[in-house]
Amino acid sequence: MENPTSAVNPERHSSWDTDVLIIGSGAAGLRAALAASEHTNVTLITKTTLTESNTHYAQGGIAVAMNLDDTIALHIKDTCAAGVGLCDVKAVEMMVSEGIPRVAELLDWGANFDWEGTLPRFTQEAAHSRRRIVHKGDATGRETTDVLIQRVLNTENIHVLQNTFAIDLLTDVENPKGHEETVTCYGVTAVVDEQVVYIRARATILATGGLGRLYPCTSNPKVATGDGFAAAWRAGCEMVDMEFVQFHPTTLYLDGAPNFLISEAVRGEGGKLVNIRGERFMEKYHEKGELAPRDVVSRAIQIEMELTGFPCVYLDITHEPAEFILERFPTISDTTQHYGLDISIDLIPVRPGAHFMMGGIRTNTNTETNLKGLYACGEVACTGVHGANRLASNSLLECLVYGARAGTNAATFAALQLSHPPDMLSAGNIGTSQTPHIEVDLVTIEAIRDAIRETLWENVSIERNGEGLEQTLAELQDLTTDLGSVPAPPESSDIAIIETINMLNVALMITESALTRTESRGAHYRADFPMSDDTDWHRRILIKNDNPPEVIPL
Ligand code: FAD
Ligand code: SIN
Repeated sequence: MENPTSAVNPERHSSWDTDVLIIGSGAAGLRAALAASEHTNVTLITKTTLTESNTHYAQGGIAVAMNLDDTIALHIKDTCAAGVGLCDVKAVEMMVSEGIPRVAELLDWGANFDWEGTLPRFTQEAAHSRRRIVHKGDATGRETTDVLIQRVLNTENIHVLQNTFAIDLLTDVENPKGHEETVTCYGVTAVVDEQVVYIRARATILATGGLGRLYPCTSNPKVATGDGFAAAWRAGCEMVDMEFVQFHPTTLYLDGAPNFLISEAVRGEGGKLVNIRGERFMEKYHEKGELAPRDVVSRAIQIEMELTGFPCVYLDITHEPAEFILERFPTISDTTQHYGLDISIDLIPVRPGAHFMMGGIRTNTNTETNLKGLYACGEVACTGVHGANRLASNSLLECLVYGARAGTNAATFAALQLSHPPDMLSAGNIGTSQTPHIEVDLVTIEAIRDAIRETLWENVSIERNGEGLEQTLAELQDLTTDLGSVPAPPESSDIAIIETINMLNVALMITESALTRTESRGAHYRADFPMSDDTDWHRRILIKNDNPPEVIPL
Protein backbone atom coordinates (compact mmCIF):
# COMPACT_ATOMS: atom_id res chain seq x y z
CA MET A 1 0.00 0.00 0.00
CA GLU A 2 1.25 3.46 -0.73
CA ASN A 3 0.00 6.60 0.89
CA PRO A 4 1.94 9.49 -0.59
CA THR A 5 0.97 13.00 0.36
CA SER A 6 1.16 16.05 -1.85
CA ALA A 7 1.45 19.72 -1.02
CA VAL A 8 -1.69 21.63 -1.86
CA ASN A 9 -2.48 25.29 -1.87
CA PRO A 10 -5.89 26.15 -0.47
CA GLU A 11 -5.78 29.48 -2.27
CA ARG A 12 -6.34 27.65 -5.57
CA HIS A 13 -9.69 26.35 -4.38
CA SER A 14 -12.68 27.64 -2.46
CA SER A 15 -12.27 27.29 1.24
CA TRP A 16 -14.38 27.41 4.35
CA ASP A 17 -13.11 28.04 7.88
CA THR A 18 -14.60 26.78 11.11
CA ASP A 19 -13.62 26.11 14.71
CA VAL A 20 -14.74 22.49 14.95
CA LEU A 21 -15.41 20.43 11.84
CA ILE A 22 -17.47 17.25 12.20
CA ILE A 23 -17.64 14.74 9.38
CA GLY A 24 -20.70 12.51 9.46
CA SER A 25 -24.33 12.83 10.53
CA GLY A 26 -24.91 9.55 12.35
CA ALA A 27 -25.43 9.35 16.10
CA ALA A 28 -21.72 9.97 16.79
CA GLY A 29 -21.39 13.06 14.58
CA LEU A 30 -24.71 14.58 15.64
CA ARG A 31 -24.02 14.05 19.35
CA ALA A 32 -20.51 15.46 18.91
CA ALA A 33 -21.93 18.55 17.18
CA LEU A 34 -24.32 19.22 20.05
CA ALA A 35 -21.53 18.90 22.63
CA ALA A 36 -19.05 21.08 20.69
CA SER A 37 -21.68 23.73 20.02
CA GLU A 38 -21.93 24.41 23.76
CA HIS A 39 -18.47 25.97 23.48
CA THR A 40 -17.80 27.11 19.93
CA ASN A 41 -18.85 27.31 16.26
CA VAL A 42 -19.32 24.01 14.50
CA THR A 43 -19.58 22.89 10.89
CA LEU A 44 -21.08 19.45 10.30
CA ILE A 45 -20.66 17.95 6.84
CA THR A 46 -22.26 14.82 5.50
CA LYS A 47 -21.88 12.82 2.32
CA THR A 48 -25.51 12.89 1.19
CA THR A 49 -28.45 13.94 3.35
CA LEU A 50 -28.51 14.44 7.11
CA THR A 51 -30.64 11.34 7.60
CA GLU A 52 -28.55 8.92 5.56
CA SER A 53 -26.37 6.89 7.93
CA ASN A 54 -26.12 3.47 9.54
CA THR A 55 -27.68 5.03 12.61
CA HIS A 56 -30.87 5.89 10.78
CA TYR A 57 -31.47 2.19 9.97
CA ALA A 58 -30.67 0.86 13.45
CA GLN A 59 -33.43 -1.44 14.59
CA GLY A 60 -32.92 -3.34 17.85
CA GLY A 61 -32.16 -0.52 20.25
CA ILE A 62 -29.67 0.89 22.71
CA ALA A 63 -28.18 -1.27 25.46
CA VAL A 64 -28.18 0.50 28.80
CA ALA A 65 -27.99 -0.74 32.38
CA MET A 66 -31.18 0.97 33.57
CA ASN A 67 -33.44 -1.99 34.33
CA LEU A 68 -34.25 -2.75 37.97
CA ASP A 69 -32.41 -6.10 38.01
CA ASP A 70 -29.41 -4.76 36.06
CA THR A 71 -26.08 -3.26 37.11
CA ILE A 72 -23.20 -1.45 35.45
CA ALA A 73 -20.94 -4.34 36.48
CA LEU A 74 -23.13 -6.88 34.65
CA HIS A 75 -23.24 -4.81 31.47
CA ILE A 76 -19.43 -4.45 31.58
CA LYS A 77 -19.09 -8.21 32.13
CA ASP A 78 -21.31 -9.07 29.14
CA THR A 79 -19.52 -6.55 26.89
CA CYS A 80 -16.09 -7.92 27.79
CA ALA A 81 -17.23 -11.54 27.40
CA ALA A 82 -18.45 -10.75 23.85
CA GLY A 83 -15.12 -8.99 23.11
CA VAL A 84 -13.21 -12.20 24.02
CA GLY A 85 -10.36 -10.69 25.98
CA LEU A 86 -9.59 -7.76 23.68
CA CYS A 87 -11.83 -5.07 25.18
CA ASP A 88 -10.24 -2.04 26.80
CA VAL A 89 -11.94 -2.37 30.16
CA LYS A 90 -11.49 1.30 31.08
CA ALA A 91 -13.18 2.35 27.84
CA VAL A 92 -16.01 -0.15 28.44
CA GLU A 93 -16.56 1.12 32.01
CA MET A 94 -16.80 4.66 30.67
CA MET A 95 -19.27 3.68 27.93
CA VAL A 96 -21.53 1.70 30.25
CA SER A 97 -21.59 4.22 33.12
CA GLU A 98 -21.76 7.42 31.06
CA GLY A 99 -24.27 5.68 28.81
CA ILE A 100 -26.94 5.96 31.50
CA PRO A 101 -27.03 9.79 31.57
CA ARG A 102 -26.61 9.92 27.78
CA VAL A 103 -29.70 7.75 27.22
CA ALA A 104 -31.65 9.57 29.96
CA GLU A 105 -30.84 12.84 28.20
CA LEU A 106 -32.02 11.45 24.86
CA LEU A 107 -35.34 10.54 26.49
CA ASP A 108 -35.46 14.02 27.99
CA TRP A 109 -34.94 15.53 24.55
CA GLY A 110 -38.06 13.75 23.38
CA ALA A 111 -37.03 10.29 22.14
CA ASN A 112 -40.34 8.46 22.11
CA PHE A 113 -39.12 4.97 23.06
CA ASP A 114 -41.45 2.16 24.11
CA TRP A 115 -42.55 2.24 27.77
CA GLU A 116 -44.07 -0.19 30.21
CA GLY A 117 -45.47 1.64 33.22
CA THR A 118 -42.82 3.97 34.60
CA LEU A 119 -39.87 2.31 32.88
CA PRO A 120 -38.73 1.90 29.28
CA ARG A 121 -39.75 -1.47 27.86
CA PHE A 122 -36.44 -3.37 27.95
CA THR A 123 -35.95 -6.11 25.39
CA GLN A 124 -33.49 -8.99 25.16
CA GLU A 125 -30.73 -9.49 22.60
CA ALA A 126 -28.01 -12.09 22.15
CA ALA A 127 -25.29 -12.51 24.79
CA HIS A 128 -26.91 -10.02 27.21
CA SER A 129 -27.52 -11.51 30.67
CA ARG A 130 -30.37 -9.05 31.29
CA ARG A 131 -33.20 -7.43 29.37
CA ARG A 132 -31.49 -4.06 28.86
CA ILE A 133 -32.26 -2.84 25.34
CA VAL A 134 -34.37 0.33 25.12
CA HIS A 135 -36.03 0.78 21.75
CA LYS A 136 -38.69 2.34 19.61
CA GLY A 137 -40.38 -0.69 18.02
CA ASP A 138 -37.81 -1.80 15.43
CA ALA A 139 -36.97 1.75 14.33
CA THR A 140 -34.77 2.94 17.17
CA GLY A 141 -32.23 4.51 14.82
CA ARG A 142 -34.84 6.64 13.07
CA GLU A 143 -36.22 7.90 16.38
CA THR A 144 -32.71 8.64 17.67
CA THR A 145 -31.59 10.54 14.56
CA ASP A 146 -34.88 12.44 14.36
CA VAL A 147 -34.36 13.75 17.89
CA LEU A 148 -30.67 14.59 17.40
CA ILE A 149 -31.16 16.16 13.96
CA GLN A 150 -33.97 18.37 15.21
CA ARG A 151 -31.75 19.58 18.02
CA VAL A 152 -28.81 20.19 15.68
CA LEU A 153 -31.01 22.18 13.28
CA ASN A 154 -32.29 24.26 16.19
CA THR A 155 -28.77 25.13 17.34
CA GLU A 156 -27.66 28.43 15.86
CA ASN A 157 -23.90 27.88 15.88
CA ILE A 158 -24.02 24.53 14.07
CA HIS A 159 -23.69 24.99 10.33
CA VAL A 160 -24.77 21.93 8.32
CA LEU A 161 -23.42 21.19 4.83
CA GLN A 162 -25.18 18.25 3.13
CA ASN A 163 -23.92 16.57 -0.06
CA THR A 164 -20.38 17.39 1.00
CA PHE A 165 -18.05 14.45 0.51
CA ALA A 166 -14.85 14.47 2.61
CA ILE A 167 -11.88 13.21 0.63
CA ASP A 168 -8.70 13.64 2.64
CA LEU A 169 -7.50 15.21 5.85
CA LEU A 170 -5.53 18.44 5.62
CA THR A 171 -2.37 18.11 7.64
CA ASP A 172 0.77 19.96 8.57
CA VAL A 173 3.89 18.06 9.58
CA GLU A 174 6.36 19.57 12.03
CA ASN A 175 9.75 18.01 12.22
CA PRO A 176 11.61 19.74 15.03
CA LYS A 177 15.27 18.76 15.25
CA GLY A 178 15.83 15.87 17.60
CA HIS A 179 12.11 15.48 18.31
CA GLU A 180 9.51 13.11 16.95
CA GLU A 181 7.53 14.45 14.01
CA THR A 182 4.10 15.89 14.89
CA VAL A 183 1.27 15.75 12.40
CA THR A 184 -1.54 18.23 13.01
CA CYS A 185 -4.90 17.99 11.28
CA TYR A 186 -6.56 21.18 10.03
CA GLY A 187 -9.76 19.96 8.37
CA VAL A 188 -10.43 18.21 5.08
CA THR A 189 -10.64 18.50 1.34
CA ALA A 190 -14.16 17.79 0.16
CA VAL A 191 -16.25 17.55 -2.97
CA VAL A 192 -19.19 19.95 -3.17
CA ASP A 193 -21.11 20.32 -6.44
CA GLU A 194 -18.33 18.44 -8.27
CA GLN A 195 -15.74 20.96 -7.06
CA VAL A 196 -12.95 20.29 -4.60
CA VAL A 197 -13.12 22.67 -1.63
CA TYR A 198 -10.99 23.13 1.46
CA ILE A 199 -12.71 23.08 4.82
CA ARG A 200 -10.16 24.31 7.35
CA ALA A 201 -10.73 23.77 11.04
CA ARG A 202 -8.96 24.22 14.34
CA ALA A 203 -10.17 20.77 15.38
CA THR A 204 -11.67 17.96 13.31
CA ILE A 205 -13.87 15.02 14.31
CA LEU A 206 -14.18 11.98 12.05
CA ALA A 207 -17.55 10.28 12.58
CA THR A 208 -17.94 8.67 9.17
CA GLY A 209 -19.33 5.33 10.30
CA GLY A 210 -18.77 1.87 8.85
CA LEU A 211 -17.77 -0.08 5.79
CA GLY A 212 -20.40 -2.74 5.15
CA ARG A 213 -20.57 -1.81 1.48
CA LEU A 214 -17.19 -3.44 0.93
CA TYR A 215 -19.16 -6.69 0.96
CA PRO A 216 -21.87 -7.76 -1.51
CA CYS A 217 -24.14 -8.88 1.32
CA THR A 218 -24.61 -6.22 3.97
CA SER A 219 -27.12 -4.53 6.25
CA ASN A 220 -25.44 -1.14 5.64
CA PRO A 221 -26.74 1.66 3.39
CA LYS A 222 -24.84 2.90 0.32
CA VAL A 223 -22.91 5.60 2.19
CA ALA A 224 -20.94 3.00 4.18
CA THR A 225 -17.91 2.66 1.90
CA GLY A 226 -15.28 3.09 4.62
CA ASP A 227 -14.19 6.59 3.54
CA GLY A 228 -13.13 7.75 7.01
CA PHE A 229 -10.93 4.70 7.65
CA ALA A 230 -9.13 5.26 4.34
CA ALA A 231 -8.66 9.03 4.75
CA ALA A 232 -7.34 8.54 8.28
CA TRP A 233 -4.89 5.87 7.17
CA ARG A 234 -3.64 8.04 4.30
CA ALA A 235 -3.00 10.86 6.76
CA GLY A 236 -0.91 8.61 9.02
CA CYS A 237 -3.44 7.57 11.66
CA GLU A 238 -2.88 4.40 13.63
CA MET A 239 -5.47 1.79 12.61
CA VAL A 240 -6.21 -1.13 14.95
CA ASP A 241 -8.30 -4.33 15.08
CA MET A 242 -9.06 -4.11 11.36
CA GLU A 243 -9.52 -7.90 11.08
CA PHE A 244 -12.67 -7.75 13.21
CA VAL A 245 -15.66 -7.28 10.90
CA GLN A 246 -18.97 -8.38 12.38
CA PHE A 247 -21.45 -10.35 10.26
CA HIS A 248 -25.06 -10.11 11.39
CA PRO A 249 -26.70 -13.54 11.21
CA THR A 250 -30.01 -12.45 9.72
CA THR A 251 -30.37 -10.26 6.67
CA LEU A 252 -33.34 -10.81 4.38
CA TYR A 253 -32.61 -13.12 1.45
CA LEU A 254 -35.35 -12.66 -1.13
CA ASP A 255 -35.18 -12.25 -4.88
CA GLY A 256 -35.37 -8.57 -5.75
CA ALA A 257 -35.21 -7.38 -2.13
CA PRO A 258 -32.24 -5.57 -0.58
CA ASN A 259 -30.29 -7.23 2.26
CA PHE A 260 -32.65 -5.67 4.75
CA LEU A 261 -31.75 -6.41 8.39
CA ILE A 262 -34.02 -8.71 10.39
CA SER A 263 -33.28 -7.53 13.91
CA GLU A 264 -31.75 -9.74 16.56
CA ALA A 265 -34.68 -8.63 18.69
CA VAL A 266 -36.82 -11.05 16.63
CA ARG A 267 -34.76 -13.86 18.17
CA GLY A 268 -34.85 -11.96 21.48
CA GLU A 269 -38.66 -12.31 21.36
CA GLY A 270 -38.39 -16.05 20.79
CA GLY A 271 -37.80 -16.31 17.01
CA LYS A 272 -36.29 -19.68 16.01
CA LEU A 273 -33.88 -20.54 13.20
CA VAL A 274 -34.59 -23.56 11.00
CA ASN A 275 -32.83 -24.90 7.93
CA ILE A 276 -34.52 -25.69 4.60
CA ARG A 277 -35.47 -29.11 5.99
CA GLY A 278 -37.40 -27.40 8.79
CA GLU A 279 -34.88 -28.56 11.44
CA ARG A 280 -33.90 -26.27 14.31
CA PHE A 281 -30.13 -26.28 14.50
CA MET A 282 -28.74 -23.68 16.91
CA GLU A 283 -28.71 -26.02 19.94
CA LYS A 284 -26.10 -28.10 18.09
CA TYR A 285 -23.75 -25.12 18.04
CA HIS A 286 -24.21 -23.26 21.35
CA GLU A 287 -25.96 -23.67 24.68
CA LYS A 288 -27.65 -20.30 24.23
CA GLY A 289 -29.20 -21.46 20.96
CA GLU A 290 -30.56 -18.58 18.86
CA LEU A 291 -29.21 -16.08 21.41
CA ALA A 292 -25.58 -17.21 21.10
CA PRO A 293 -23.01 -14.52 20.15
CA ARG A 294 -23.38 -13.21 16.59
CA ASP A 295 -20.23 -14.83 15.23
CA VAL A 296 -21.42 -18.24 16.45
CA VAL A 297 -24.90 -17.83 14.93
CA SER A 298 -23.50 -16.52 11.62
CA ARG A 299 -21.06 -19.40 11.34
CA ALA A 300 -23.74 -21.93 12.25
CA ILE A 301 -26.02 -20.55 9.52
CA GLN A 302 -23.17 -20.72 7.01
CA ILE A 303 -22.50 -24.36 7.94
CA GLU A 304 -26.22 -25.24 7.66
CA MET A 305 -26.35 -23.57 4.24
CA GLU A 306 -23.38 -25.68 3.14
CA LEU A 307 -24.77 -28.90 4.64
CA THR A 308 -28.15 -28.47 2.97
CA GLY A 309 -26.78 -26.93 -0.24
CA PHE A 310 -29.38 -24.18 0.11
CA PRO A 311 -28.54 -20.44 -0.01
CA CYS A 312 -30.41 -19.40 3.15
CA VAL A 313 -32.04 -20.57 6.38
CA TYR A 314 -35.35 -19.38 7.88
CA LEU A 315 -36.36 -17.36 10.89
CA ASP A 316 -39.67 -18.33 12.43
CA ILE A 317 -41.63 -15.87 14.62
CA THR A 318 -45.02 -17.32 13.76
CA HIS A 319 -45.63 -18.41 17.38
CA GLU A 320 -46.41 -14.76 18.20
CA PRO A 321 -49.85 -13.29 17.45
CA ALA A 322 -50.05 -11.01 14.41
CA GLU A 323 -50.98 -7.97 16.56
CA PHE A 324 -47.83 -8.37 18.68
CA ILE A 325 -45.62 -8.70 15.60
CA LEU A 326 -47.14 -5.63 13.96
CA GLU A 327 -46.71 -3.55 17.08
CA ARG A 328 -43.24 -4.80 18.01
CA PHE A 329 -41.71 -5.03 14.51
CA PRO A 330 -43.62 -2.59 12.28
CA THR A 331 -40.68 -1.79 9.96
CA ILE A 332 -39.75 -5.43 9.42
CA SER A 333 -43.42 -6.39 8.91
CA ASP A 334 -43.95 -3.58 6.39
CA THR A 335 -40.80 -4.31 4.44
CA THR A 336 -41.35 -8.06 4.22
CA GLN A 337 -45.03 -7.47 3.37
CA HIS A 338 -43.85 -5.36 0.45
CA TYR A 339 -42.10 -8.49 -0.91
CA GLY A 340 -45.13 -10.71 -0.35
CA LEU A 341 -44.24 -12.20 3.06
CA ASP A 342 -46.55 -12.11 6.06
CA ILE A 343 -44.16 -12.89 8.90
CA SER A 344 -46.98 -13.79 11.28
CA ILE A 345 -47.62 -16.85 9.08
CA ASP A 346 -44.56 -17.13 6.78
CA LEU A 347 -40.97 -18.07 7.63
CA ILE A 348 -38.42 -15.34 6.85
CA PRO A 349 -35.55 -16.37 4.50
CA VAL A 350 -32.31 -15.04 5.98
CA ARG A 351 -28.56 -15.28 5.73
CA PRO A 352 -25.60 -13.41 7.26
CA GLY A 353 -24.35 -10.06 5.97
CA ALA A 354 -21.52 -7.64 6.82
CA HIS A 355 -22.85 -5.41 9.57
CA PHE A 356 -20.33 -3.63 11.77
CA MET A 357 -16.62 -2.80 12.05
CA MET A 358 -15.09 -3.33 15.49
CA GLY A 359 -11.70 -1.94 14.45
CA GLY A 360 -10.80 1.50 13.19
CA ILE A 361 -8.87 4.64 14.03
CA ARG A 362 -7.09 4.11 17.33
CA THR A 363 -8.27 6.57 19.96
CA ASN A 364 -7.94 6.97 23.69
CA THR A 365 -10.98 7.51 25.90
CA ASN A 366 -10.78 11.23 25.14
CA THR A 367 -11.32 10.27 21.48
CA GLU A 368 -7.90 11.69 20.57
CA THR A 369 -6.06 10.07 17.66
CA ASN A 370 -2.31 10.13 17.08
CA LEU A 371 -2.80 13.25 14.91
CA LYS A 372 -2.97 16.50 16.85
CA GLY A 373 -6.35 18.18 16.41
CA LEU A 374 -8.00 15.04 15.03
CA TYR A 375 -10.66 13.21 17.04
CA ALA A 376 -12.66 10.12 16.05
CA CYS A 377 -15.86 8.61 17.43
CA GLY A 378 -18.53 6.07 16.59
CA GLU A 379 -18.03 3.14 14.24
CA VAL A 380 -14.98 4.61 12.46
CA ALA A 381 -13.10 4.82 15.76
CA CYS A 382 -11.59 2.07 17.84
CA THR A 383 -11.58 2.95 21.52
CA GLY A 384 -11.40 -0.77 22.27
CA VAL A 385 -14.94 -1.01 23.68
CA HIS A 386 -15.90 -3.89 21.40
CA GLY A 387 -12.72 -5.98 21.38
CA ALA A 388 -13.03 -8.91 18.97
CA ASN A 389 -16.82 -8.78 18.80
CA ARG A 390 -19.51 -6.22 19.60
CA LEU A 391 -22.38 -6.96 21.92
CA ALA A 392 -25.74 -6.18 20.32
CA SER A 393 -26.99 -2.60 20.74
CA ASN A 394 -23.73 -1.35 22.24
CA SER A 395 -22.89 0.70 19.15
CA LEU A 396 -25.52 3.40 19.55
CA LEU A 397 -24.50 3.64 23.19
CA GLU A 398 -20.87 4.06 22.15
CA CYS A 399 -21.86 6.79 19.66
CA LEU A 400 -23.75 8.79 22.29
CA VAL A 401 -21.02 8.53 24.93
CA TYR A 402 -17.93 8.99 22.79
CA GLY A 403 -19.66 11.42 20.41
CA ALA A 404 -20.33 13.74 23.36
CA ARG A 405 -16.76 13.32 24.61
CA ALA A 406 -15.33 14.05 21.15
CA GLY A 407 -17.39 17.24 20.80
CA THR A 408 -16.32 18.62 24.17
CA ASN A 409 -12.66 17.69 23.74
CA ALA A 410 -12.40 19.02 20.20
CA ALA A 411 -14.00 22.31 21.22
CA THR A 412 -11.57 22.67 24.11
CA PHE A 413 -8.64 21.98 21.80
CA ALA A 414 -9.94 24.45 19.21
CA ALA A 415 -10.23 27.18 21.84
CA LEU A 416 -6.56 26.76 22.75
CA GLN A 417 -5.32 27.25 19.17
CA LEU A 418 -4.13 30.82 18.93
CA SER A 419 -3.05 30.90 15.31
CA HIS A 420 -4.92 30.14 12.08
CA PRO A 421 -4.10 26.99 10.13
CA PRO A 422 -0.93 27.42 8.06
CA ASP A 423 -1.47 28.50 4.43
CA MET A 424 0.23 25.50 2.90
CA LEU A 425 -1.20 22.18 3.99
CA SER A 426 -0.84 18.60 2.79
CA ALA A 427 -3.68 16.35 1.78
CA GLY A 428 -3.29 12.58 1.61
CA ASN A 429 -2.95 11.91 -2.08
CA ILE A 430 -5.49 9.28 -2.91
CA GLY A 431 -3.64 8.20 -6.04
CA THR A 432 -3.05 4.52 -5.37
CA SER A 433 -0.09 3.68 -7.48
CA GLN A 434 2.79 5.21 -9.31
CA THR A 435 2.06 3.26 -12.49
CA PRO A 436 1.43 5.29 -15.64
CA HIS A 437 -1.95 6.92 -15.89
CA ILE A 438 -4.65 4.82 -17.54
CA GLU A 439 -8.12 5.91 -18.51
CA VAL A 440 -10.64 4.94 -15.85
CA ASP A 441 -14.27 4.90 -16.88
CA LEU A 442 -17.29 4.21 -14.75
CA VAL A 443 -17.71 0.67 -16.10
CA THR A 444 -14.16 -0.10 -14.98
CA ILE A 445 -14.83 1.46 -11.60
CA GLU A 446 -17.99 -0.62 -11.11
CA ALA A 447 -16.10 -3.76 -12.16
CA ILE A 448 -13.35 -2.98 -9.64
CA ARG A 449 -15.92 -2.44 -6.87
CA ASP A 450 -17.57 -5.77 -7.72
CA ALA A 451 -14.21 -7.52 -7.72
CA ILE A 452 -13.33 -6.09 -4.28
CA ARG A 453 -16.68 -7.25 -2.89
CA GLU A 454 -16.44 -10.70 -4.43
CA THR A 455 -12.95 -11.46 -3.19
CA LEU A 456 -13.70 -10.15 0.32
CA TRP A 457 -16.88 -12.22 0.50
CA GLU A 458 -15.07 -15.32 -0.72
CA ASN A 459 -12.01 -15.10 1.52
CA VAL A 460 -12.31 -12.38 4.16
CA SER A 461 -15.78 -12.86 5.57
CA ILE A 462 -17.25 -15.24 8.16
CA GLU A 463 -14.60 -17.92 7.71
CA ARG A 464 -11.04 -17.22 6.56
CA ASN A 465 -7.89 -19.23 5.88
CA GLY A 466 -4.30 -18.35 5.03
CA GLU A 467 -4.47 -19.47 1.41
CA GLY A 468 -7.63 -17.52 0.68
CA LEU A 469 -6.33 -14.42 2.43
CA GLU A 470 -3.10 -14.55 0.40
CA GLN A 471 -5.15 -14.89 -2.76
CA THR A 472 -7.30 -11.88 -1.87
CA LEU A 473 -4.23 -9.84 -0.98
CA ALA A 474 -2.78 -10.53 -4.43
CA GLU A 475 -6.10 -9.75 -6.11
CA LEU A 476 -6.44 -6.46 -4.24
CA GLN A 477 -2.90 -5.52 -5.20
CA ASP A 478 -3.72 -6.27 -8.86
CA LEU A 479 -6.87 -4.18 -8.61
CA THR A 480 -4.83 -1.33 -7.19
CA THR A 481 -2.61 -1.51 -10.25
CA ASP A 482 -5.67 -1.77 -12.53
CA LEU A 483 -6.99 1.43 -11.08
CA GLY A 484 -3.74 3.04 -12.13
CA SER A 485 -2.76 6.49 -11.02
CA VAL A 486 -6.17 8.08 -11.31
CA PRO A 487 -6.39 11.83 -11.40
CA ALA A 488 -6.16 12.56 -7.70
CA PRO A 489 -7.80 15.44 -5.90
CA PRO A 490 -7.55 18.38 -6.17
CA GLU A 491 -7.65 17.66 -9.93
CA SER A 492 -10.37 15.02 -9.70
CA SER A 493 -13.68 15.26 -7.93
CA ASP A 494 -15.22 12.01 -9.11
CA ILE A 495 -16.85 10.53 -6.02
CA ALA A 496 -17.18 7.03 -7.51
CA ILE A 497 -13.42 6.90 -8.09
CA ILE A 498 -12.62 8.25 -4.63
CA GLU A 499 -14.96 5.75 -2.95
CA THR A 500 -13.41 2.89 -4.90
CA ILE A 501 -9.90 3.88 -3.87
CA ASN A 502 -11.14 4.09 -0.28
CA MET A 503 -12.66 0.61 -0.55
CA LEU A 504 -9.38 -0.77 -1.87
CA ASN A 505 -7.34 0.91 0.88
CA VAL A 506 -9.64 -0.47 3.57
CA ALA A 507 -9.95 -3.94 2.00
CA LEU A 508 -6.15 -4.21 2.09
CA MET A 509 -6.05 -3.23 5.77
CA ILE A 510 -8.69 -5.83 6.69
CA THR A 511 -6.98 -8.57 4.67
CA GLU A 512 -3.46 -7.85 5.95
CA SER A 513 -4.67 -7.82 9.55
CA ALA A 514 -6.69 -11.02 9.08
CA LEU A 515 -3.63 -12.72 7.59
CA THR A 516 -1.49 -11.60 10.50
CA ARG A 517 -3.80 -12.95 13.23
CA THR A 518 -3.08 -16.68 13.15
CA GLU A 519 -5.80 -17.71 15.60
CA SER A 520 -9.59 -17.50 15.85
CA ARG A 521 -11.18 -14.93 18.16
CA GLY A 522 -14.60 -13.29 18.17
CA ALA A 523 -15.63 -12.27 14.67
CA HIS A 524 -12.31 -13.40 13.18
CA TYR A 525 -12.51 -17.13 12.44
CA ARG A 526 -9.55 -18.84 10.75
CA ALA A 527 -10.37 -22.38 9.61
CA ASP A 528 -6.62 -23.10 9.56
CA PHE A 529 -6.25 -21.82 13.17
CA PRO A 530 -9.65 -22.69 14.71
CA MET A 531 -8.63 -22.16 18.35
CA SER A 532 -8.02 -18.95 20.32
CA ASP A 533 -4.45 -18.55 21.50
CA ASP A 534 -4.23 -16.41 24.63
CA THR A 535 -0.50 -16.90 24.96
CA ASP A 536 0.49 -15.29 21.68
CA TRP A 537 -2.62 -13.47 20.61
CA HIS A 538 -3.87 -11.58 23.59
CA ARG A 539 -2.69 -8.66 21.48
CA ARG A 540 -3.82 -6.18 18.88
CA ILE A 541 -2.71 -5.52 15.34
CA LEU A 542 -1.78 -2.02 14.31
CA ILE A 543 -1.46 -0.68 10.78
CA LYS A 544 0.20 2.64 10.08
CA ASN A 545 1.37 4.07 6.75
CA ASP A 546 2.98 1.44 4.53
CA ASN A 547 4.57 -0.45 7.38
CA PRO A 548 3.76 -4.14 7.72
CA PRO A 549 1.08 -4.85 10.37
CA GLU A 550 2.57 -4.57 13.85
CA VAL A 551 1.49 -6.79 16.74
CA ILE A 552 1.18 -4.66 19.87
CA PRO A 553 0.26 -5.36 23.52
CA LEU A 554 -3.28 -4.58 24.71
P1 FAD B 1 -23.17 6.35 10.87
O1 FAD B 1 -24.46 6.36 11.55
O2 FAD B 1 -22.97 5.35 9.81
O3 FAD B 1 -22.94 7.79 10.25
C1 FAD B 1 -21.82 8.04 9.42
C2 FAD B 1 -22.06 9.34 8.70
O4 FAD B 1 -20.87 9.72 7.99
C3 FAD B 1 -23.16 9.27 7.66
O5 FAD B 1 -23.91 10.44 7.76
C4 FAD B 1 -22.40 9.23 6.33
O6 FAD B 1 -23.12 9.73 5.27
C5 FAD B 1 -21.22 10.12 6.68
N1 FAD B 1 -20.06 9.91 5.81
C6 FAD B 1 -19.46 8.74 5.47
N2 FAD B 1 -18.43 8.99 4.63
C7 FAD B 1 -18.40 10.33 4.43
C8 FAD B 1 -17.60 11.18 3.65
N3 FAD B 1 -16.63 10.72 2.85
N4 FAD B 1 -17.85 12.52 3.68
C9 FAD B 1 -18.85 13.03 4.45
N5 FAD B 1 -19.65 12.25 5.20
C10 FAD B 1 -19.42 10.92 5.19
N6 FAD B 1 -26.36 -0.60 16.67
C11 FAD B 1 -26.97 -0.57 17.87
O7 FAD B 1 -26.35 -0.24 18.88
N7 FAD B 1 -28.27 -0.92 17.95
C12 FAD B 1 -29.01 -1.29 16.88
O8 FAD B 1 -30.19 -1.57 17.00
C13 FAD B 1 -28.38 -1.34 15.61
N8 FAD B 1 -29.06 -1.73 14.51
C14 FAD B 1 -28.45 -1.61 13.30
C15 FAD B 1 -29.19 -1.89 12.15
C16 FAD B 1 -28.64 -1.69 10.90
C17 FAD B 1 -29.45 -1.97 9.67
C18 FAD B 1 -27.30 -1.23 10.80
C19 FAD B 1 -26.68 -1.00 9.46
C20 FAD B 1 -26.55 -1.00 11.94
C21 FAD B 1 -27.12 -1.18 13.18
N9 FAD B 1 -26.40 -0.92 14.34
C22 FAD B 1 -27.03 -0.94 15.56
C23 FAD B 1 -25.05 -0.39 14.26
C24 FAD B 1 -25.12 1.12 14.45
O9 FAD B 1 -26.28 1.60 13.83
C25 FAD B 1 -23.92 1.83 13.85
O10 FAD B 1 -22.74 1.20 14.23
C26 FAD B 1 -23.90 3.25 14.36
O11 FAD B 1 -25.14 3.85 14.08
C27 FAD B 1 -22.78 4.02 13.71
O12 FAD B 1 -22.98 5.38 13.96
P2 FAD B 1 -21.92 6.42 13.45
O13 FAD B 1 -22.44 7.75 13.84
O14 FAD B 1 -20.57 6.04 13.86
O15 FAD B 1 -21.95 6.24 11.87
C1 SIN C 1 -30.27 -5.64 15.41
O1 SIN C 1 -31.31 -5.02 15.60
O2 SIN C 1 -30.20 -6.86 15.30
C2 SIN C 1 -29.00 -4.87 15.30
C3 SIN C 1 -28.53 -4.57 16.64
C4 SIN C 1 -27.08 -4.20 16.62
O3 SIN C 1 -26.41 -4.23 15.60
O4 SIN C 1 -26.60 -3.89 17.70
